[in-house]
Amino acid sequence: MGFNLKNIISIRDFKKSDINYILELSKNMEEQINNKIINKNQEGKLLGILFYEPSTRTRLSFETAMKRLSGNTVGFSQAESTSTKKGEVLHDTAQVIAQYTDAIVLRHKKEGAARYISEVTDIPVINAGDGAGQHPTQTLLDLYTIKNIKDGFKNLKIAIVGDLKYGRTVHSLVYALAMFNTEIIFISPNELRMPEEILNDLRKTRCKFSVSNNIENIINEVDIIYMTRIQKERFPDPKEYSKIKGQYNINKKMIEDTDVMVMHPLPRVDEISFNMDNTKNAKYFQQAFYGVPVRMALLDSIID
Ligand code: CP
Repeated sequence: MGFNLKNIISIRDFKKSDINYILELSKNMEEQINNKIINKNQEGKLLGILFYEPSTRTRLSFETAMKRLSGNTVGFSQAESTSTKKGEVLHDTAQVIAQYTDAIVLRHKKEGAARYISEVTDIPVINAGDGAGQHPTQTLLDLYTIKNIKDGFKNLKIAIVGDLKYGRTVHSLVYALAMFNTEIIFISPNELRMPEEILNDLRKTRCKFSVSNNIENIINEVDIIYMTRIQKERFPDPKEYSKIKGQYNINKKMIEDTDVMVMHPLPRVDEISFNMDNTKNAKYFQQAFYGVPVRMALLDSIID
């Protein structure tokens, strides 16, 4: 079983065997972390981390992953402190960072930015989120979480809740779930439904899915609830956001008598109550931890 992708841009570029390869390798990486084994695979290598949008988990888990592989990182988390402020375009910034480093991780507000950079540089590029487009490394850690906690993907039913229009994590995740034949219920306000183009893609697969507005009705029906934040920053009109925010919330009382597993890519705003955090159902912090072994596996697979 090999891994032949040079860049990590979209989950749609992955074959099921590529995903399984990364999930297997992530298990090794997790064992190394837990057993405090020093991995020297990326010693002497440098990762360029270019973040044009805010991030906590993705940026810091990539940094942690590279350092746990004995590599190092350079980069920025605010474009305002770079020559972008003086008018430098993404193309030129990426060309320069590609002279300094062995791979680039890019988060950008424009859909397609990572694909573009991968086409104009000759080092591996990883998409760490491109606007409302894709977030493939989040999907891999989501899959790793599901596989570990649910012992695989067989006969699983998952509700994906919240901002399905702008949420890049779910735009990636659904393509992978379709590969693993997971049944999906999409729950969102009408204004934030999963784009029809993606639903049409799912119709072409064997993926079974349905669409609803109501979260209460499905709690006893599903194995996993995947909550998402309403993506305030993507709304063209802030008044539209104000009308929609706060529509979905999940709290301890709603799920404590069930076995449903609650996931969230984080950050949360108001869609998961804090009283959920100590329940057996809450898995979102464990999910965030899995970002490190999964990103170690990815970096080790694409950097020479
Ligand atoms: N899940 C995720 O992408 O989180 P950050 O925005 O904090 O990186």
